[in-house]
Amino acid sequence: MAVLKIKDRHKPATKERTLSMAILFDKQEQIFYLHTKNTSYVMGVLHGKYLLHLHYGKKIHAYHNFVKNLPIHNDTTWCGVDIMDSDAIYSTELLPMEYPTYGSADLRTPAFHAEYETGSAVTCLGYCGYEIYHGKESLSGLPATYVESDSEADTLEITLVDSLTGLKIVLSYSVFEDYDVITKSVRAVNESVQPIDVQSILSSTTYLFDKNYEFVHLTGAWARERHIQKQPLMNGTMQIDSKRVASGHIHSPFLALARPWATENQGEVYGYSFVYSGNFIMQAETNQQNLVRVNIGINPFGFHWLLTPGEVFQAPEVVMTFSNSGFGTMSRRFHRIYRQRLCRGKYRDSERPVLINNWEATYYDFDEEKILNIAKKAHDVGVELLVLDDGWYGKRDTGDSSLGDWRPYLKKLPNGIDGLADKIAEMGMRFGLWFEPEMVSENSDLFRTHPDWYIGIPGRPKTPARGPGQLVLDLTRPEVCDYIVEALSAVLRSAKISYVKWDMNRNITEIGSATLPANRQQELPHRYMLGLYSILERLVTAFPDVLFEGCAGGGGRFDAGMLYYFPQYWTSDDTDAIERLYIQHGTSLVMPACTMGAHVSAVPNHQVHRTTPLQTRGHIAMAGQFGYEMDLGKLSEEETELVRQQIRQYKEIRSTIHFGDLYRLRSPFEGENTAWEYVSADLKQVVLIYCTIRAHVITGMTQIRFEGLKENAQYRNTETGEIYDGDFLMNVGLYLSDSKDYATKLMTFELC
Ligand code: GLA
Repeated sequence: MAVLKIKDRHKPATKERTLSMAILFDKQEQIFYLHTKNTSYVMGVLHGKYLLHLHYGKKIHAYHNFVKNLPIHNDTTWCGVDIMDSDAIYSTELLPMEYPTYGSADLRTPAFHAEYETGSAVTCLGYCGYEIYHGKESLSGLPATYVESDSEADTLEITLVDSLTGLKIVLSYSVFEDYDVITKSVRAVNESVQPIDVQSILSSTTYLFDKNYEFVHLTGAWARERHIQKQPLMNGTMQIDSKRVASGHIHSPFLALARPWATENQGEVYGYSFVYSGNFIMQAETNQQNLVRVNIGINPFGFHWLLTPGEVFQAPEVVMTFSNSGFGTMSRRFHRIYRQRLCRGKYRDSERPVLINNWEATYYDFDEEKILNIAKKAHDVGVELLVLDDGWYGKRDTGDSSLGDWRPYLKKLPNGIDGLADKIAEMGMRFGLWFEPEMVSENSDLFRTHPDWYIGIPGRPKTPARGPGQLVLDLTRPEVCDYIVEALSAVLRSAKISYVKWDMNRNITEIGSATLPANRQQELPHRYMLGLYSILERLVTAFPDVLFEGCAGGGGRFDAGMLYYFPQYWTSDDTDAIERLYIQHGTSLVMPACTMGAHVSAVPNHQVHRTTPLQTRGHIAMAGQFGYEMDLGKLSEEETELVRQQIRQYKEIRSTIHFGDLYRLRSPFEGENTAWEYVSADLKQVVLIYCTIRAHVITGMTQIRFEGLKENAQYRNTETGEIYDGDFLMNVGLYLSDSKDYATKLMTFELC
């Protein structure tokens, strides 16, 4: 094998810019400690070369004698012995390798796999050095959690090198001590003079040291997103993934590994969330010794990256938390960090407007007059923002034309978008607009002008989606990205627009770009994401006052990556209140309530044809970012009055729902009712939303024990005036009956 020429790559990186309390390196024992308030993440360097994962879980102060106390039997290996010690022999076949590569004795799924100029696909990384610093650097071109001051997190970077190939891997760990969260990401640097064909570069590998865990994930379909599913781990690999170039409706980039006995408030739970919106994998591979390797990253399927000499490839971030007190603690930690240090911009900390969206009220069949009537009625009852959905541009009367032609459809809107927006503003309401910027219709001026701007393969049929002729623009091309930014900017500048709904309504198929060279065609899925993120960054920076809400056929790309740009997301196209119990409950495992768009719609419901009371629809939608998606003009006077009350009530509790702590007291997946409790950050307001799914005759009452209150304080029910002690509500609670299908209660308590 020809030896590659390698530039000076062995600069030892060992340095500590400042002293960190959250990250420590025991030089004598060669052990790294990452400490949050309640957890520790520990790694050791074996024989100066092998970086091992030793512990992630409850806080420890020291790891004793890791060389003698490894969690594996060494004598059972026959794959090959990498390490001889005076006391023992070791094989990477079994060791908990912190960043495993393909090529020597470790034959589990690697985190890194590449082909070198010689044709060899063997990579052997050795520990080289580390750096510790206060703060956290941003990830080039990618969404990630961030700090506002260097005191909020500390970062450890560990460098591994392959001395034969010139590959350098930098593992980056940031410790958000107060949030009890650790983030991980990886970058590869080609320090050789030859290109490296990277075929897999995962962002995180960690281990569990026995297999008595359940694989807990969020699965579903269009209009049935993020239902909770749990399976015991098996020997072999359990995996969720996406190959759609979007995270998708079917699986979300979220995984929990939990003890089978874990509940909302007890038991060990590991939560992993991937801050990426494209193809991903999350897998748990259990080996012959029941050691569980947890791999998370960009899906190696359909991934390639030709890393040229000197080039750096940045892999996305994984956010992890370990909870010793069940799923509730895990979720509240995700909610807190995502609300405060992933979401950005003006709306991060401010209450979002109650909106009305015309989609289910009119679909494509509207004109200015209809929209103004909807707006007027909505404004009368207290709605703050009108959102004009699909159908306002080009010549869009059905789903098969005009995507890409972001100019007003004058037949429907003779006064243009600015004329309509002015009239809405005169009413005292804000105005928002729907776009699907990543798409182009074959029947559009954009496609006629630029017939090669879509993703596809010349000579192959284009898979039709959502009616014929909806194609995806090739965001690997800078000129296409520029077009999108300019087209949207022109509309946003032309009128009083304070909200954008950014939709994305198809999977990406027939992967091919008219401009990428042959040896980079397989880079398209990740380059697409980089193009999209760059567009979003430009737009949210240029329009800081605009509230962006994400959408992908409902919640098809509702992931942590998107929250960096969109502080809220349309949770699902299913607006039925009962279906929403499952969707919102599942989504809340990782996403905070302020990010979940939830609207009251007409009955019978358009997706499942169920009729539920208006009160129920209101209460369930109040558990998220509240709005309406119906023609309020069609309601009776009594119903209109109820809507007015709902909006008034929501405005009183929205700060608690948005920024408080969520306690899931009853799960729709485990019984026939659901209860969600929200406690404001200052513990002064408590909101309980309770829903019966199916009633039964002569069943017992349901005991609802509150959580997160002050034990020695008193709470007043704001409706009835009854006063309860905190310890009573938490240890005895209230008994609620399930005597009527779909009936809900919303109770608010105030600290006395
Ligand atoms: C998607 C969205 C809907 C609506 C339609 C418009 O399905 O999820 O809310 O905006 O597109 O075409």
